[in-house]
Amino acid sequence: MLETKQKTIYEEALSRGISRRDFLKMCTALAATMGLSFKNSDKVVHAMETNKRVPVIWLEFQSCSGCSESFIRSTHPKAESVLLDMISLEYSEVLSAAAGHQVEEAKHNTFKQYPGEYVLVVEGSIPGDEFTTVSGKPARAVLEEAAKNCKFVITYGSCASWGGLPAAKPNPTGAVPVTDVVKDKPVVLVPGCPPIAEVMTGVIAHVITFGAVPELDRFGRPKAFYRHRIHDKCNRRAYFDSGLFAESFDDVGAKQGYCLYKLGCAGPTTYSACPEMRWNGGTSYPIQSGNPCIGCTEKNFWDNGPFFARRAKIMGTQTTINPDKVGLAVAGAAVAGVAAHAGITAAMKKKEKNGSEERGE
Ligand code: SF4
Ligand code: F3S
Repeated sequence: MLETKQKTIYEEALSRGISRRDFLKMCTALAATMGLSFKNSDKVVHAMETNKRVPVIWLEFQSCSGCSESFIRSTHPKAESVLLDMISLEYSEVLSAAAGHQVEEAKHNTFKQYPGEYVLVVEGSIPGDEFTTVSGKPARAVLEEAAKNCKFVITYGSCASWGGLPAAKPNPTGAVPVTDVVKDKPVVLVPGCPPIAEVMTGVIAHVITFGAVPELDRFGRPKAFYRHRIHDKCNRRAYFDSGLFAESFDDVGAKQGYCLYKLGCAGPTTYSACPEMRWNGGTSYPIQSGNPCIGCTEKNFWDNGPFFARRAKIMGTQTTINPDKVGLAVAGAAVAGVAAHAGITAAMKKKEKNGSEERGE
């Protein structure tokens, strides 16, 4: 057991019969998943050749286990590569083969053997002390104990990140997110109900590869996966811009694949990589399959409903509209936007030139 933990990630992969060629392919896929350019894949290769597997403790509180279910369906990288080659999963209520005292012992051994080194993954929200106990301890105490000596915390899913469905009004268990309990460690939020499998494996791969948290947005979400609104990359966006909307789930517009905004789509206010990465190995995502986005990566999405009624107020979509007029308005706005952009670019270039001259360059 000790010998296994001393192997590098590359050695671990070799010992499982993975060829050098497949190892390099895995690293390239990993770099792409992490949002790195192709030229940076050698950094991933180097990290995998020199870094040892990282011990991980995966705690689960008030959740449906959907995040674990999503994680094990990752295809790029494959979940088994992450679980067997890259991390050493010391404790997980869903994925550990052991149970009861055995697995509790493994968890406590990890605290002792790897202080400051292990990554703590949390799935589910944290209820009041009277609602959930794990091995006889309230959930909050279990989390505090595990977070005390961890290196980073990753919250998988909207429950651990924001409180999630257990925190929906009237929040009967007093559910809170991890950040309400853990204040003195870096916490990477990976919200979603559940998050996309490759986003989950991509985030943990980044932490392992670079030994640091990825660049985060102001809420603590990795920018690589949460920097775009669904609306910015949506496959139905051309219909939105042309003013073509489905008015009901079974009308002609719905059959034609028109925009789902009027059916409650929260894409314009939701940040997630769904249209780019998609689900089930890149097959589809809710909007592509005909369902409006319900904003499952956003804070309080569970109380922001109803899900299938129009919500965000965006100009030109509040009434039944004339598509021709919207088309003209959009074209006019685009022309104005291009002109404004050209003006700004010219002004910036002039400023740059003046600066160079002043510096004598
Ligand atoms: Fe896509 Fe929704 Fe935006 Fe329409 S409103 S373009 S369906 S994200
Ligand atoms: Fe969730 Fe919307 Fe994606 S509902 S799965 S963020 S399309």
